[in-house]
Amino acid sequence: MKVLVVGGGGREHALCWKLAQSPLLSKLYCAPGNAGIADVAECVAVAAEDVAGMVAFARDTAVDLVVVGPEGPLCLGLADRLKAAGIKVFGPSEAAARLEGSKGFMKDVVAKAGIPTAWYRRFTDMDAAKAFVREKGAPIVVKTDGLAAGKGVVVAMTLDEALKAIDDMMGAKVFGAAGDELVIEEFLDGEEASFFALCDGKTALPLVAAQDHKRVGDGDTGPNTGGMGAYSPAPVVTPDREREVFERCILPAVRTMAEQGAPFTGVLFAGLMFTKDGPKLLEFNVRFGDPECQVLMARMDSDLLPVLLAAAEGRLAEVSLDWRDECALVVVMAAAGYPGSYKKNTVIRGLAAANAVEGVTVLHAGTARNAAGEVIATGGRVLGITAIGPSVEEARTRAYRAVDALDWPDGFCRRDIAWRALARRS
Ligand code: AMP
Ligand code: GLY
Repeated sequence: MKVLVVGGGGREHALCWKLAQSPLLSKLYCAPGNAGIADVAECVAVAAEDVAGMVAFARDTAVDLVVVGPEGPLCLGLADRLKAAGIKVFGPSEAAARLEGSKGFMKDVVAKAGIPTAWYRRFTDMDAAKAFVREKGAPIVVKTDGLAAGKGVVVAMTLDEALKAIDDMMGAKVFGAAGDELVIEEFLDGEEASFFALCDGKTALPLVAAQDHKRVGDGDTGPNTGGMGAYSPAPVVTPDREREVFERCILPAVRTMAEQGAPFTGVLFAGLMFTKDGPKLLEFNVRFGDPECQVLMARMDSDLLPVLLAAAEGRLAEVSLDWRDECALVVVMAAAGYPGSYKKNTVIRGLAAANAVEGVTVLHAGTARNAAGEVIATGGRVLGITAIGPSVEEARTRAYRAVDALDWPDGFCRRDIAWRALARRS
């Protein structure tokens, strides 16, 4: 099979790394890819959100399956356009991707499906939104309806913060049109984790849970990022809780989307809060998490390719998945300054030594090669040092051994990935 992976981050390197191991694969393309992906796939210079360019490439190359990594092209209708061109695709339609593209839409589906979640209300009027938060009081959560690169959420601990968030999002439009509508919802207290499932429009196949680290600094301090590390399994999500989440959050969503005429195909990523009243859904994303995908791929024992094909063809009920018993952990190395402004094109050395550490695979997120052929950092999140081991401690030791083998003075990482899992042990 000829497969095209869309995207060029750590998640896509993880998918390419895993797909490249499939005996069913004859050729792997990735658009646009990165310097690490180029080791396992042929990188194609088409931007992830260039829908017309991507469809043309897939058609001209007679690709058998397209696997879409990021939400951007999905929300732009890439899956619909590929299907219309007769190309199989793993990823939701534009209509189904609204589960991530519109928080208001997602909350309505979740309410209709009876999935446990925070109470909410949707607003297009600023005064009505303010009146509502005054009535409800803090803590309370204010979200832009549309995509805001993960920044459109304010967990307001005071009424003033909530009112300011409404002014910023809807008045000053700091996130542009994403703030034309707001969702205001209940503050949920508990421990956060994510759970993933593959969907084929009719049914779903559970993957596993993971926990990421959104803040930039050790001890969960500093500004939010796309994710500074992750690990799986996540001890807060016991096997019983995994089953509960699958049955109470995933399956009802798949059923409801099908009933609404927007069947969901692809990965459903459930962001969950484990509260004292049980798991509650914070949000759905319509893609693998980044960096959660890196640990999922490290733990997956089965061949990924036939499973993604089965999802694309509506045959998920026929397949099953095997997982390694080991723990997987990823430490993200970012460019100094991230998530603020950071230097670009700094040279990264020691990659071979890092990759040589037992159990470690260095997955690239934002890298390229310079004219001299050296690997350089081109993004905020740059590398995902991914390790497996018999325990979370061992996986973590291996990952940091690889971090220390790198020679990249302009990079940094958190030193406490998996602290919750380790705190639970002791
Ligand atoms: P979201 O983009 O909806 O996942 O929100 C980003 C982050 O905000 C989540 O990962 C949570 O840490 C936090 N968050 C979102 N919604 C709530 C909520 N209802 N209660 C508490 N924290 C929340
Ligand atoms: N790591 C969180 C996300 O991919 O949205």
